[in-house]
Amino acid sequence: MKKLITAMMIMGMTAGVAALPQEVDSNNGGVESLRGSTELSKTRNADQHKRVLKDRAPIERNYVHQPPMVPHQIRGYRVDLNSNKCLSCHGWKYARETGATKISPTHFETRDGMTLSDVSPRRYFCLQCHVPQVDGRALVENEFKAVDSLTQQ
Ligand code: HEC
Ligand code: HEC
Repeated sequence: MKKLITAMMIMGMTAGVAALPQEVDSNNGGVESLRGSTELSKTRNADQHKRVLKDRAPIERNYVHQPPMVPHQIRGYRVDLNSNKCLSCHGWKYARETGATKISPTHFETRDGMTLSDVSPRRYFCLQCHVPQVDGRALVENEFKAVDSLTQQ
């Protein structure tokens, strides 16, 4: 009796497994998303890593108050409790020597509008707002145009 129950359980389990793909598998009807036409139930190969662009001149800004994008590689630049590699070039103390743009006065302000004598904690983690660029293709078509006053001739 015990053997019979075990056998039935095993049969039930394999039947369950065999039935699973049919239930989960859905035909996407030719719809393509950002992950291509791979169906939800299939794992698609990961994309290739994109290359971070080589160091170059500052990238044009698109609107006033845009955090400028990072025009250089940042591999190995640590920003943590003990040190901030970005500030070792962009801090006012070092900017002249390193040729980097100084962080702007807004970076010393607290959210209540007080000006501190050093970078404000809310501007400490630079990569929250400033991001490097990769050689990627735009995921979707984008017709955004920079405001006229910032467009260079
Ligand atoms: C070794 C020095 C150095 C370090 C470290 C460094 N930068 Fe830079 N950064 C530069 C230089 C030089 C430029 C280009 C300035 C120019 O050509 O006008 C620049 C440009 C930039 C710009 C563009 C400024 C603009 O006006 O468009 C941003 C944003 C920036 N860096 C952010 C960062 C961030 C964030 C980090 C840390 C992850 C960092 N940088 C670390 C030297 C450095
Ligand atoms: C909360 C978002 C935020 C964080 C965090 C932040 N920034 Fe910025 N940053 C901005 C914005 C927005 C601007 C453009 C407007 C302005 O100057 O405030 C800017 C401007 C700059 C500029 C250009 C200044 C100029 O005069 O044109 C540099 C360089 C820069 N940031 C570097 C840094 C570095 C280095 C850090 C980290 C220590 C940092 N930022 C952290 C938002 C941020």
